[in-house]
Amino acid sequence: MSTIRIEDIAHVRYAAPDLAAMRAFLEDFGMDCFEESGRLYGRGADGRPFVHVTEPGEAKFLAVGLRAETVADLEKLAASEGVPVEDLKEPGGGKIVRLTDPDGYGVEVVAGQAKAEALPLPADQPVNTASAKPRFRQTVRLEARPAHVKRIGHAVLKVRDFRTSERWYKDGFGFITSDEVEAAADVPLGAFMRCDRGDKPADHHTLFLAQLPGELGILHAAFEVANLDDLMLGHQHLKAKKREAAWGVGRHIMGSQIFDYWKDPFGNELEHWTDGDLFTAADPPQKQPMSALLAVQWGAPHPMFAGKLAPPPGLVSFFMALRLRVLGLFRSKPKGTPA
Ligand SMILES: [Fe+2]
Repeated sequence: MSTIRIEDIAHVRYAAPDLAAMRAFLEDFGMDCFEESGRLYGRGADGRPFVHVTEPGEAKFLAVGLRAETVADLEKLAASEGVPVEDLKEPGGGKIVRLTDPDGYGVEVVAGQAKAEALPLPADQPVNTASAKPRFRQTVRLEARPAHVKRIGHAVLKVRDFRTSERWYKDGFGFITSDEVEAAADVPLGAFMRCDRGDKPADHHTLFLAQLPGELGILHAAFEVANLDDLMLGHQHLKAKKREAAWGVGRHIMGSQIFDYWKDPFGNELEHWTDGDLFTAADPPQKQPMSALLAVQWGAPHPMFAGKLAPPPGLVSFFMALRLRVLGLFRSKPKGTPA
């Protein structure tokens, strides 16, 4: 039984030396931006006060925000962790409990934030397919423009020890596994985890913890956009603005979402996504091979497979080590044991 059950991810917080450059990118990415008390905030269309925060400073990832259902939950969490519940002195107010995870990442658990007025999203167009034709005497005419970020959906964090981090996030916040990714049988390298909302639908993943080689850090933060046309118009807009594309467009295997990854001016990766899987707490966890992690159902291959990106430093030795570990497991079996 976890201390509390968080209901969603709330925000990501970065530092950057040039807030104007970050703002220009986030506006091209489809966020509504404003500055307050020396910080830059990006919000989506869902009326939450912010989903992306940038503080002035050397470029780095600072924290992930998680949203608790109630302030009473924050009090429970604070008592369990021996830390105070503080006033959240940022847009929307509310309360916050500040924690540090096993890898030193800031985890900001918030509740009681006031919702701002929701922003309009483009309407979904009826889609004609071979078997259904709901669009009749009605054209499709789309204007070039940025995508519309509705909300933040998930963050992917690199961790030193997956099982340690998994325990910490599950015990504290009630995360449940959707897909555990294995480098080999019973050699996990991470898991896509979702919020436990009982019988209410939850995104396939709100957090992905990945034990990969190289420096720790956030791999990306992901934001839901209005629909497929919106995602593609966003892609076209970012390309026209000569922003740095990272990967996409394609459809993932785990989570099934249509994705499009871009880099901000400080090297942080942000994802646009639409049409992801939803599950309830009753849906059992699955195991997936590593090959399913970077493969696509359709669309652009991962840059590493397309030869556009060198494997990150340490990746080759990491997988060599892993291979040796797996081989060692087989070698340690008594003679005569079937493989
Ligand atoms: Fe993602």
